[in-house]
Amino acid sequence: MTVLQTERLTLRWLCADDAPFILDLLNDPSWLRFVGDKGVRTLQDARDYIEKGPVAMVRDHGIGLHMTELTDGRVPIGICGLIKRDSLPDVDLGFALLPTYRGRGYAFEAAQATLRYGIHERGLRRIVAITSLDNDRSIKLLEKLGFVFERTIQVAGGEDLRLFAYQASSIWPDGPLRRCPTGVRPTSVQSGLMSNALPSVTVQQVMTPHPVTAALDTPVPDAIELMEQVGCRHLPVVAGGELVGVVSKKAVSCECAQHRQVGEVMSSDVPTAKPGDAIEQAAATMALSKVDCLPVLEGGQLVGIITTYDVLDLLCRRARQTPRPV
Ligand SMILES: CC(C)(COP(=O)(O)OP(=O)(O)OC[C@H]1O[C@@H](n2cnc3c(N)ncnc32)[C@H](O)[C@@H]1OP(=O)(O)O)[C@@H](O)C(=O)NCCC(=O)NCCS
Repeated sequence: MTVLQTERLTLRWLCADDAPFILDLLNDPSWLRFVGDKGVRTLQDARDYIEKGPVAMVRDHGIGLHMTELTDGRVPIGICGLIKRDSLPDVDLGFALLPTYRGRGYAFEAAQATLRYGIHERGLRRIVAITSLDNDRSIKLLEKLGFVFERTIQVAGGEDLRLFAYQASSIWPDGPLRRCPTGVRPTSVQSGLMSNALPSVTVQQVMTPHPVTAALDTPVPDAIELMEQVGCRHLPVVAGGELVGVVSKKAVSCECAQHRQVGEVMSSDVPTAKPGDAIEQAAATMALSKVDCLPVLEGGQLVGIITTYDVLDLLCRRARQTPRPV
């Protein structure tokens, strides 16, 4: 069954027919080195692995590994999905591609869609990922996705592993940098924002990715609770996978809104930004439209949100870096 569709990929649940592919993938040298030897040597081993692993996980937890295929030609290239392990309190993100399909952005595309699925469809607020200390490709991918390194752990007394986490909060009360543990910042933030090169900063570098959303029929009290939980003042409203408006804390706080649904109090026809827009452009749009936030859309899909707070936070950090005139 198809679970997710991206620009180039189709992600579906694994089934026993995928045994030949799984046999190949689980004996790939990088899998053996970075994921481990599952002892899958025959087609029957592969069928058993699928049945006792991914299929059982979907049955028991409603999540699992997705077979990842090129939509064009339905070519299987890897697996990517959400895993609930007994050894970890949080659901974790896993991915692996056959060597031929690495280095083309497929893992990022599949993992990003899976992350959004976990947050928006499965209601997860925190998703983790574990990697070997030296799995540089995996670490690079996790940082691109917005995961932040938390600590080194051991699972079931095995080797040391790096634990990364992704928090699904929409807007952190203290701005993007405060979502990270002390001293650790996402690479994207380190690279551009801390320099003085403000004109080169794009919306993507400042926005909060994968914001928490509301639906048209979300009751206003639920939207208020959601905003309080994640510490934000705006929720994008999504219907049929598309952005249809934004609801603000001001709109839901009115006494007269308490028995209504989000669709009745939201603003529709809201201005939006694109990830590649310059930050000044987004700031100008917010100023001219007199709005405090812009949903960020890519190919019609909601990929983030940027607020006046994010822009001010950027300006403050830049000001701290600029030498004062003597
Ligand atoms: C971890 C793994 C899935 C990463 O795969 P990947 O293909 O390197 O990851 P991405 O999809 O992010 O691709 C990134 C590369 O594609 C390139 N690329 C090419 N076209 C691209 C596109 N259209 N979009 C994005 N990136 C593209 C990028 O430039 C980047 O290359 P670079 O790192 O040399 O700059 C892969 O290495 C793997 O399967 N490893 C073995 C199993 C494993 O370790 N799993 C993780 C266990 S924790």
